[in-house]
Amino acid sequence: MARSVAFAVFALLLAGSVAQKASLRPNDQQLTVEVGQTKHVSFHAEGDLEGDLVVFFSHTGNIDIPQNATIFASNKTGTIEVTGITVTSLTYVKVTGCRYETGSQDSECPLNTEDSFVVVKVVHSNALSIVIIVVGWTYFVAWSISFYPQIYLNFKRTSVVGLNFDFLLLNIIGFTCYTVYNVLMYFDSYIQSLYHQEHARSLNPVLLNDVVFAVHALFACIVTAVQCFLYERGTQRISWTCIGLSSVFGLFSVISLLLSIISVFSWLQFINNLSYVKMAVTLCKYVPQAALNYRRKSTIGWSIGNVLLDFTGGTLDICQMVLQALNTDDWTGFSGNPVKFGLGLVSIVFDVLFMIQHYCLYRHVKVNDAIYEGINNSPTSSTTLSRGGNEAVNGEPESADYGANASTIPVRPTPP
Ligand SMILES: *[C@@H]1O[C@H](CO)[C@@H](O)[C@H](O)[C@H]1NC(C)=O
Ligand SMILES: *[C@@H]1O[C@H](CO)[C@@H](O)[C@H](O)[C@H]1NC(C)=O
Repeated sequence: MARSVAFAVFALLLAGSVAQKASLRPNDQQLTVEVGQTKHVSFHAEGDLEGDLVVFFSHTGNIDIPQNATIFASNKTGTIEVTGITVTSLTYVKVTGCRYETGSQDSECPLNTEDSFVVVKVVHSNALSIVIIVVGWTYFVAWSISFYPQIYLNFKRTSVVGLNFDFLLLNIIGFTCYTVYNVLMYFDSYIQSLYHQEHARSLNPVLLNDVVFAVHALFACIVTAVQCFLYERGTQRISWTCIGLSSVFGLFSVISLLLSIISVFSWLQFINNLSYVKMAVTLCKYVPQAALNYRRKSTIGWSIGNVLLDFTGGTLDICQMVLQALNTDDWTGFSGNPVKFGLGLVSIVFDVLFMIQHYCLYRHVKVNDAIYEGINNSPTSSTTLSRGGNEAVNGEPESADYGANASTIPVRPTPP
C-alpha cells in the first residue's frame, strides 16, 4: 500500500516535471556529412512558445555550425546548417541553452534540451556510406535465410541424421537470450533510460532489424527442433556435456532474472548477462557439429548452404566494420569491441572448417540416400555403392552410412 502511494506520488511528480517543460527535438538524431558538405538540421519544439526563441549550440572542431538559431513561434521550428570539416566517427550538434529573443541575457530556457542533440559522423565519402548500408542489408539477408537450407535438407531427407542436436539446443538458447536482449532494449523505455544513464548521448544500440533478425532466427531454430521430433534421427541425442553446459547457461540466466526482480541487479545488467550467454554460445556451438562430422567422416545431413550463407554474413559483417573504419578513420570498433569482432572471427573459422570437411575431407563419401545424393539408388545396389565410396576415403564403411535406412545402421553415439 505504502509502495503504491509512493509510486503514485512519484508518477505525479514525474508528470508534473514533464508538463512543465516541452522538449526540443531534432528531426533526425543521426547525421552523416562528407568533408566540405553542408546539410540542414531542424529542431522542433513540442510545446507552445510565447515568442521566438534563440537556442545556443556548443562548438566542436569537426563540424561548422552557427552559434545560435531561432526557433520561430509560428511553426515552432528552427533550422541550422551543419558543414563537415574533419573526418570523425562521432561528434555532436548539442544545444547548450536557450532563451526568448525578447528575454534578458540570463532568463531561463523554457524548453527541456536533454534530448536536443544530433549524433554526427563526418566521412570521407557519401558513396562509401551507401555501400556500407547495402553491405549491412546484404549480411542481414544472408544471415536471415541461412537457416532455411538446413530446414529444407531435413524436409527433403525426412531425416535429421547428421545434424548435431547439441548445436541446435545451444543455438536455441543463444537466440532466446539474444531475442530477449533485443526486444527489451528496443521496446522497453525503462531499460533504454538505464542505458542512456550509463552511455550519455548515445543512440539505442539495437535497431529494428536486429529485433526482426533475432525473433526470426529463434523461430527458424524452433522449426528445426520440431523437425527433430518428426523425422528420422537414428540414435542421435543431446549429449550430457551439452545438457550440463545448457543448465549452466539456464541457471545463470534465471539467477540473473531473480536478482533483477529483487533489485540486486539492474534490468540493464540482466539483459547484458543474457548477451554474455549469447556470446558463450557462439563460442562453443559449432564444436559438437564439427566433432560429429569428424566422427562420421561425413557432412551428409549438415547443410553446406547454411554454412556458406553464415560465412557470407560473417565476412560481410567484418567487411562493413572495415569500411566504416576507413570512412571515418576510426578503428576503435575493432579494439573497443573485441568481443563482437572475435566472435565474428570464430564463426568464420568454423565455417571454413565445415567447408574443408564438406568439399575436401569427406567429399567422396556416398550414402544410400537417393534424395540427397540425387541418384536413384536401388535397395540392392545401395550397399555396394556406399561402401565402395567410403572405403576409398577412410576404410570405415559403416561410419558414413546414414541415409534413408539410418534406423538399421545406427549412428555411433560415442567417438571411436
Ligand atoms: C547569434 O549568432 C550570431 C553570429 O552567428 C551573432 O551575431 C548574434 O549576436 C547571436 N545572437 C545572440 C542572441 O547571441
Ligand atoms: C518557420 O517559419 C519561419 C518564419 O516564420 C520560416 O523562415 C521558416 O522557413 C519556417 N520553417 C519551416 C520548417 O516551415
